[in-house]
Amino acid sequence: MKEKLTFLGIETSCDETAASVVREKADGTGEILSNIVSSQVEEHKEFGGVVPEIAARAHVEKIEFIIKKALIESNLNFSSIDGISATAGPGLIVCLTVGLNAGKAIAGSLKKPFIAINHLEGHALSPKINNKIKFPYLLLLISGGHTQFLEVNGVNNYKRLGTTIDDALGEAFDKTAKLLGIEFPGGPIIEEWAKKGDKNYFKLPKPIFKKGGCNLSFAGLKTAVLRTSKKLKNEKEKYHLAASFQKTINEILYEKTRIAMDKFLINKKNGKKTFVIAGGVAANLTIRDNLTNLSNEKNFFPIFPPINLCSDNAAMIAWAGIERYKVNLIDNLEFPSKARWPLDSLAPFLKGPGIKF
Ligand code: KG4
Ligand code: ZN
Repeated sequence: MKEKLTFLGIETSCDETAASVVREKADGTGEILSNIVSSQVEEHKEFGGVVPEIAARAHVEKIEFIIKKALIESNLNFSSIDGISATAGPGLIVCLTVGLNAGKAIAGSLKKPFIAINHLEGHALSPKINNKIKFPYLLLLISGGHTQFLEVNGVNNYKRLGTTIDDALGEAFDKTAKLLGIEFPGGPIIEEWAKKGDKNYFKLPKPIFKKGGCNLSFAGLKTAVLRTSKKLKNEKEKYHLAASFQKTINEILYEKTRIAMDKFLINKKNGKKTFVIAGGVAANLTIRDNLTNLSNEKNFFPIFPPINLCSDNAAMIAWAGIERYKVNLIDNLEFPSKARWPLDSLAPFLKGPGIKF
């Protein structure tokens, strides 16, 4: 096998059209030669969320340009690329298909290896691009589409310790923001508003706080925010609600992460304990402080990847391609896109009604 692999990664699972070229470095980490992300925030703003058909059309319009741009910025051409990886799921089928087909077409025509990537594996392995960390480590993924605790034991070897049973955390931020009249995606504005409010002003519920292990739920909290938002008496109370919501989220995350850390430790008593926090919501500074404090208490070393590697990007997909190629996990060009694709096939399917704890 070549000493330093270089991969082109492609990502179109949701509302980001992204392509990136990543090269392996001698120390086992990665060098990002290009990382192009075209976000569709503007296209979806007026709808308050991602509209699949609009997202798919935007991917089709942009994908060729984005891939070309990634190659040009990397100063390489197709012949120096050792393999192509593309996200095959989970996500919106109409969107996934665009990037997946582009990746297959390039791999097929150049006769280069093709690797289909689980988007969650992309997030799970992404901290290894910039950090020399060893398996296993604990990962909390908090984004607009996912909220889960994963034990990352190795490439293709994951155990899901807990997940949301309803909304993703980013979704909870965005829905609260919408109720307060903030445009999508409202998470960052909630953080700003919270600075101006009193976090103890409203008492909001913490669903399944004392049950369900490290599974999480935000639907009841959203309903309480909806009820409270209808009774607000003045502008100032909007800030109080943002602050109270964020405080409640932090209390939930603290407790559920504490449980996840204990679960992670059951079989892993020795060695350095690493805790990686990824996903767009990890940009929130109060959440960072909160989880850093907990990590110090529990003797974990926290890692927050830079925000361009935390939110959706293709560098993580290129990197996952390199890691999978090195252990001979190569796919054929018939690999389908998958709307649902849990990383841990043994994990129970929790999302949906009828879940009891
Ligand atoms: O990982 P990400 O960039 O993309 C997807 O999930 O596709 O995450 C975006 C989510 C949005 O819900 C956004 O509101 C949330 O991350 N977010 C934040 C903050 N920055 C982004 N939530 C709370 N506080 C923030 N500072
Ligand atoms: Zn993601």
